[in-house]
Amino acid sequence: MRGIILAGGTGTRLHPITQVISKQLLPVYDKPMIYYPLTTLMLADVREILLISTPSDLPQFERLLGNGSQFGISLQYAEQPLPGGLAQAYLIGEKFVKNQPSMLILGDNIFYGPDLPRVLRSAISRGRGATVFAYEVDDPHRYGIVSFDAVGQAAGITEKPEAPQSNWAVTGAYIYDENAPRLAAELTPSARGELEITDLNRAYLARGMLTVEKLGRGFAWFDTGTPESLMGAAEFVRNVEKCQKYLIACPEEVAFSHGWISSADLRHRSAALAKSDYGKYLLKLHHDVRDKPPNVPASPFPAAARSASAFF
Ligand code: G1P
Repeated sequence: MRGIILAGGTGTRLHPITQVISKQLLPVYDKPMIYYPLTTLMLADVREILLISTPSDLPQFERLLGNGSQFGISLQYAEQPLPGGLAQAYLIGEKFVKNQPSMLILGDNIFYGPDLPRVLRSAISRGRGATVFAYEVDDPHRYGIVSFDAVGQAAGITEKPEAPQSNWAVTGAYIYDENAPRLAAELTPSARGELEITDLNRAYLARGMLTVEKLGRGFAWFDTGTPESLMGAAEFVRNVEKCQKYLIACPEEVAFSHGWISSADLRHRSAALAKSDYGKYLLKLHHDVRDKPPNVPASPFPAAARSASAFF
C-alpha cells in the first residue's frame, strides 16, 4: 500500500498569508498543517509515502520531514511544476505507486475521529475499486458533491455544483486500487484546465467500483483552504487537545504505538524539540514507557486503545 500527499497549489484563497509560504506548512495550532494528513496515512498503516509539491515549496517540506525515518516511515518527494489538478498526482506518482493500491490525501485536509483508523483500514482491506469518504457540509458549492439514489447508493459526483443535489462533500482522502494511474491517464482536463479528482472518482463509479463511506457522528473534517476554516481547525485542535491531554496528529506517537520507532528514538526526538510543549509531550510519552515495571509490555498503548482517541 502506497500513500501520496498532494501539497501543491498556490493557496490563493489564503493570500497574502501564503504568498511566500506553502499553505500546508502553516500552523494548525501547535504543528504544521502537513502533520495532519501525514498522520492520517500513518493511522491507516501506510508507511511508504510520496509527497508532491511545487518546485519552490518542496525543499521546505524536505527540511521539515526528511526521509521520514524519525517517524518510522519512508518519505519520497516529487514536483508538480504547475497546478494541473489533483488527479495529476497519479501521473506524477505512477512509478512510485508501481501497480499497487494507494491512498491519496490532500495536504490541507484534517480528519479527526476515534474510529478513523478502523474506517480507513477496513476501506483499504476491501482491495478492489475505490473508496471515498463523504462529510456533510453547509457550503456544498465549494466541494465535490455526491448525489444518492432512492436506496442511498451513490448516483453521481459533481465538482463544485451550482445546484447541489446533496450536502455530502467528498473529502480529500481517497483509496484506490492499482488501476488509479491508468484511469488518471485517460482523463481529459476540465473547463478550468485541470485533471479533476472528481473525474477519476466518476470513472470508478461508472464501473460500479466506487464505495462512498459517510463520515457521520463523531467525525470532524476540515478543509483548511480559507482563513475562516483554518482558524476553525486550529480552535478545534486546541480545544480537543486541552480536554483530552492527548495531541492530535503527533506522528512520533503513532509511530511509537505501531512499533515503528523505539523509545530511544522517541527520547531523541523529544530532546530535539525540548523547548516546545510538543517536545515536552514526547518526553512525557517516553517517561510513561520508561517508568513501567519491566514485566509490563514496552508499549503503553494496549491494542484496543490504539484505535481510540489517543492517536489523532
Ligand atoms: C478539492 C476537490 C473536491 C473536494 C475537496 C476536498 O477541492 O476538487 O472534490 O471536495 O478538495 O477538500 P479544492 O479544495 O481543490 O477546491
